[in-house]
Amino acid sequence: MRVLIVGGGGREHAIALCVSKSPKVKRIYCAPGNAGIAGLAECVAIAPMEFNKLIGFAKETSIDLAIVGMDDPLVGGLIDAFEEAGIRCFGPNQRAAMLEGSKSFAKDLMKKYKIPTAAYESFTDAEQALLYLETAKFPLVLKADGLALGKGVLICQNLKEAKAGVQEIMLDKKFGTAGNAMVIEEFMVGREVSVLSFVDGKTIKTMTSAQDYKRAGDGDTGLNTGGMGTFSPSPFYTKEVETFCNKYVYQATVDAMAAEGRPFQGILFFGLMLTKDGPKVLEYNARFGDPEAQVVLPRMENDIIEVIDACIDGKLHQVALTFEDNAAVCVVLASAGYPVEYENGLPISGLEAYNNHKDIYCFHAGTKWVDGQVVTAGGRVLGISAKGRDLAEARQKAYAATEWVRFENKYMRCDIAENIQ
Ligand code: AMP
Ligand code: GLY
Repeated sequence: MRVLIVGGGGREHAIALCVSKSPKVKRIYCAPGNAGIAGLAECVAIAPMEFNKLIGFAKETSIDLAIVGMDDPLVGGLIDAFEEAGIRCFGPNQRAAMLEGSKSFAKDLMKKYKIPTAAYESFTDAEQALLYLETAKFPLVLKADGLALGKGVLICQNLKEAKAGVQEIMLDKKFGTAGNAMVIEEFMVGREVSVLSFVDGKTIKTMTSAQDYKRAGDGDTGLNTGGMGTFSPSPFYTKEVETFCNKYVYQATVDAMAAEGRPFQGILFFGLMLTKDGPKVLEYNARFGDPEAQVVLPRMENDIIEVIDACIDGKLHQVALTFEDNAAVCVVLASAGYPVEYENGLPISGLEAYNNHKDIYCFHAGTKWVDGQVVTAGGRVLGISAKGRDLAEARQKAYAATEWVRFENKYMRCDIAENIQ
């Protein structure tokens, strides 16, 4: 079959690698892809929000399956557009992707269906939000309602910071229309765990757990980023936590969406906080995490196409997901200055060193070919993943492999998966 993957980051590279392993797949296309994905797929110069061009391409090329893994096109309704055009596709439709597209929608759903999450209030009016702050307890968390590249979340220690935050989000519109509404939420303390799952509308099957490092600097300092590294599994995701979430979070969310007339089909990502009062949902995403996919997918034993087919056909209950009994670590190589300002177009050398290593992967995030040379083309440039018997071995292998590649301004966190066990 012919598969089209929409996107061009490290996550899409990990998806493409997984798809390429399926004996059912003859040809992979990726729009727009990147220099690494180009080794597995034919990259097509169409942007993920160019719906008509994507549909035209999928028809001309007789695509059998389109996989959409990015938030913007999902929330914008690309799945609906593909379905209308008769193209078989995997991902939540626009009504279901609201779970990621609107934080107040997600919070209201959790409240209505008693899914554990932080206490909150939603606002569409800045005056009301400012008034609420006067009597609130600190620290607290401000969240722009819509998509903001993971940056629309502000943790405020006092009234002054919070007022400035409301000003930025709702009045100055720092995150654009994402700030037309906002959520003000209780600050929670605990370990974070990411759990990804496949969902067919009714049935949910969770994958192995992971943990992301969101801040730019070592020791969780600096600005929030898309993610600077991950490891999988998380030893903090114990059997007890899993049992609790199976009972109160996972199926409850899927059932709630179905009850609301928004059945969710696709990848559902649970950002969990393990608080002293039990696990609580921090956020939902309607797609694979990036760089969670880069540690979870290499450990998956199933044929991903079989699982995706089961999701689309409503037969996920027939599938048993299995993961290797090992561990994986991903270290993101970024361009210094990310997530604020960084240089593009810097030549990357040493990439051939990753060929033919079974347990070491160089996932491209922001790269492209220019005149026969791979150059940087984004803040997060590469994600180096490695598998090992345990997290310590995977970590050692991943960090060793970060040395094999060179580009100017290469920057990474040095504490990914450090002191975990
Ligand atoms: P989100 O995009 O909602 O996951 O928020 C981004 C990050 O902000 C999370 O991964 C947490 O580290 C932090 N965060 C979000 N909400 C809270 C909260 N209620 N309490 C503490 N930290 C939070
Ligand atoms: N790494 C978190 C995310 O993809 O949103």
